[in-house]
Amino acid sequence: MSSLTKFALGMMGQVRPKPVQSDAATSIVLPPTDKHGGPPLMEVLAKRHSSREFARDALPLPLLSGLLWAAYGENRSEGGRTAPSALNAQEIDVFVALPSGAYRYDAAAHELCLVAASDLRRVTGYQDFVDEAPLDLVYVADHTRMSRVPVGQRTSYASVAAGAIAQNVYLFSAGNDLATVIRAWIDRDAIANALGLTHDQEVLLSQTVGYPK
Ligand SMILES: Cc1cc2nc3c(=O)[nH]c(=O)nc-3n(C[C@H](O)[C@H](O)[C@H](O)COP(=O)(O)O)c2cc1C
Repeated sequence: MSSLTKFALGMMGQVRPKPVQSDAATSIVLPPTDKHGGPPLMEVLAKRHSSREFARDALPLPLLSGLLWAAYGENRSEGGRTAPSALNAQEIDVFVALPSGAYRYDAAAHELCLVAASDLRRVTGYQDFVDEAPLDLVYVADHTRMSRVPVGQRTSYASVAAGAIAQNVYLFSAGNDLATVIRAWIDRDAIANALGLTHDQEVLLSQTVGYPK
């Protein structure tokens, strides 16, 4: 669907998820992540960039596992994460839109939990490539976890945390020859409806990942 069509439909609240053909798995257990090797950090930083052309090919599960662990996985036994959060509120949830359904990443279990049995990639942004790239991430702040953060700072602090996660995804992508782009041009209400979010959950940003075209 073109950006223009989507924008027009979005104005009418008409961008709808695509039903999936088969039964979506209620959870997807991710294989253990390989935390060794990879190119040196300075080489990865030298390659980091945004891309807006994606092949349709699915990411294999081990790559998806590494990507999500790098994004916001647990990296310490006491539950520390790969990205910081103010007062360690860990308020960001990473939602994962796949052709087979939409999932929430459970970092402690390192698995994906089904939240919507439909293909809602096209709902995750106005740009046309989001419909066909194999993976769109959505970063959502859960305000119920930020009770110790001053009310006026919650959205900005959560956005900083989401930005750190996004950069982790950029670096993992650069290190694994994947294409990615962070996106703020999104219909937050449409995404919230499609994911079944509560009023305490705030959609911040989306990010597309896939193989370069
Ligand atoms: C907060 C934020 C929002 C962005 N939103 C979009 C977006 O909606 N669509 C898009 O194509 N790129 C988006 N970008 C990516 C920027 O356009 C991109 O980072 C910039 O052009 C610099 O290019 P580079 O990332 O390759 O260095 C966004 C970047 C940031 C930091």
